[in-house]
Amino acid sequence: MKVLALNGSPRKNGNTEALLGAVLKGVEAAGGEVELVRLYDLRLQPCIACGGCDNTGECVLEDEMDGLYSKIIASQRIILASPIYFYGLTAQAKAFVDRCQALWNRKRLQKEKGEWRKDPGRKGFLVAVAATHGERVFEGAILTARYAFDAMGLGYGGEFVVKGMDGCGEMARDVATLVRAEEAGRKFME
Ligand SMILES: Cc1cc2nc3c(=O)[nH]c(=O)nc-3n(C[C@H](O)[C@H](O)[C@H](O)COP(=O)(O)O)c2cc1C
Repeated sequence: MKVLALNGSPRKNGNTEALLGAVLKGVEAAGGEVELVRLYDLRLQPCIACGGCDNTGECVLEDEMDGLYSKIIASQRIILASPIYFYGLTAQAKAFVDRCQALWNRKRLQKEKGEWRKDPGRKGFLVAVAATHGERVFEGAILTARYAFDAMGLGYGGEFVVKGMDGCGEMARDVATLVRAEEAGRKFME
């Protein structure tokens, strides 16, 4: 089963990378064929609300999102990972999400023509880390991820989120949590 993992953290060897790595270990153990993309490494322009996708479901901007659209369509599972920045996703992850407006329009157009067929087997999963212990610290990211997965035609498969992680490398040292994350990755493949 094809699994697309999108890391929205700009920090290499950071907490998101460590947590996502553990989830992906579980995914691979369950037979997932993982393709990991670091969004920071791609040239992704933000959506400019030009309306270019309104009647076509195709984005008119030309950059490395082109390749991601086909990977999204071909994947049965998508994992979006991000640290929390100001109660939401990072700019890199949000730019990716906003560019999914083309897929939202594609789905709307297919629905209008009676051609939309939801595949209940396709699911999305959120991985996130935050420095604080705020009760509502993941709420914004979860809402954004749920709606983004819906635009991509995926059901919401849940999330694995960890609070109180700040310094680079902290997550990698929390072995007990990484073991639980690996198990969550395995479960996500069921
Ligand atoms: C610009 C910026 C904004 C942040 N905003 C929040 C926040 O709103 N809440 C929070 O708990 N942590 C916040 N953090 C902390 C990060 O979520 C935390 O350091 C995380 O572990 C970083 O993950 P990484 O190693 O993958 O970059 C912020 C960090 C940065 C750089």
